[in-house]
Amino acid sequence: MKDNSLNNFEGLNVLVTGADGFVSSHLCEALIKNNANVTALLKRNSSGIFKNIDQFKEKLIVRWGDTQDLSLLHDMTKETDLIYHLAAQSHVGHSLYNPYETVFNDIISTLNILEVSRKNDVKRVVHAGSSEIYGDPKSVPIDETHPLQPRSPYAAAKAASENLLESYHHSYKLPVVMSRFFNIYGPRQGLDQVIPKFILQALNDHDITIYGDGTQTRDYTFVSDVVDAYMLLGTTEKIEHKVMNFSSDKELMIKDLAEIIIDLTKSNSKLEFDNQLRTGETPRLLGNSHLARELLGWKTNVSIEEGLKQTIEFFQERKDLVDNLKFMV
Ligand SMILES: NC(=O)c1ccc[n+]([C@@H]2O[C@H](COP(=O)([O-])OP(=O)(O)OC[C@H]3O[C@@H](n4cnc5c(N)ncnc54)[C@H](O)[C@@H]3O)[C@@H](O)[C@H]2O)c1
Repeated sequence: MKDNSLNNFEGLNVLVTGADGFVSSHLCEALIKNNANVTALLKRNSSGIFKNIDQFKEKLIVRWGDTQDLSLLHDMTKETDLIYHLAAQSHVGHSLYNPYETVFNDIISTLNILEVSRKNDVKRVVHAGSSEIYGDPKSVPIDETHPLQPRSPYAAAKAASENLLESYHHSYKLPVVMSRFFNIYGPRQGLDQVIPKFILQALNDHDITIYGDGTQTRDYTFVSDVVDAYMLLGTTEKIEHKVMNFSSDKELMIKDLAEIIIDLTKSNSKLEFDNQLRTGETPRLLGNSHLARELLGWKTNVSIEEGLKQTIEFFQERKDLVDNLKFMV
């Protein structure tokens, strides 16, 4: 019989799905530092290359597999206390061209995680939700009561995943926690996201391409603040079935973001506007993370300038990756 408390991470059996992704890799590092036994589920590939966890893979229990594989997950979670379910096809643009891949992958993966958690008495499932499910905000700042109006298959799959969590909580009393993160950035982020793209363009003095007129806003949280949030979501008592936003509660125009990056990199890049927002792109995002502050005592510690400096430092050593940008969606 498993002990039912989740007081701290010492000796806790934790599964992180999609563990070599951008956010999960940082989360795995924090869990290791807190002496958790971390099983890292990585999507099968034949290259043998560990994307973002190479430097600390020896401290993880690495399992190659797929969250769409129910029997594998079932065997893997027999002794698991806590699951962080971050595996997803995580790119909005990719989901527009590959709706079936995104929807099947993201929804079936979540369903499998819930099903094995129920069968194996996992003590808590933390789901990586997204502010994308709010769509075009009816009002800002966006709190958790804002209606859900997903505008992309990615967002729809995230909303459906949350509904599944909700249903498992009601039907089986499964202890689930639902997070909704606004835009995250930091070292190791994929090149298909705006901040790595702008940084690489700036570091190479290439013009920075901006969709639309650049007045669209985003609400950015640095990855270490996100990891803090996940750590609190893992162990804070009495938060089962809660839905919480995580945001900086500050709005930044994309053109201003580009200017800050140009400034910090001392770049000669110019802004180039292509005057069309991409399909599914939200013109305004500004979160309200009051509930997370109240329930978890969470707050952001890293300013946008400081976070960008750390991210620029990471990409400085990889600035040749700029050549790969033309292959990204
Ligand atoms: N980055 C953000 O701004 C942001 C904001 C809100 C929510 N999220 C969510 O947080 C999570 C992590 O985001 P990220 O930016 O680190 O994304 P990421 O793409 O870097 O990481 C996702 C990982 O999941 C893996 N994966 C996908 N399908 C899988 C499967 N079937 N089996 C096993 N692994 C699988 C991928 O290989 C990848 O390594 C995602 O669920 C994402 O949707 C991200």
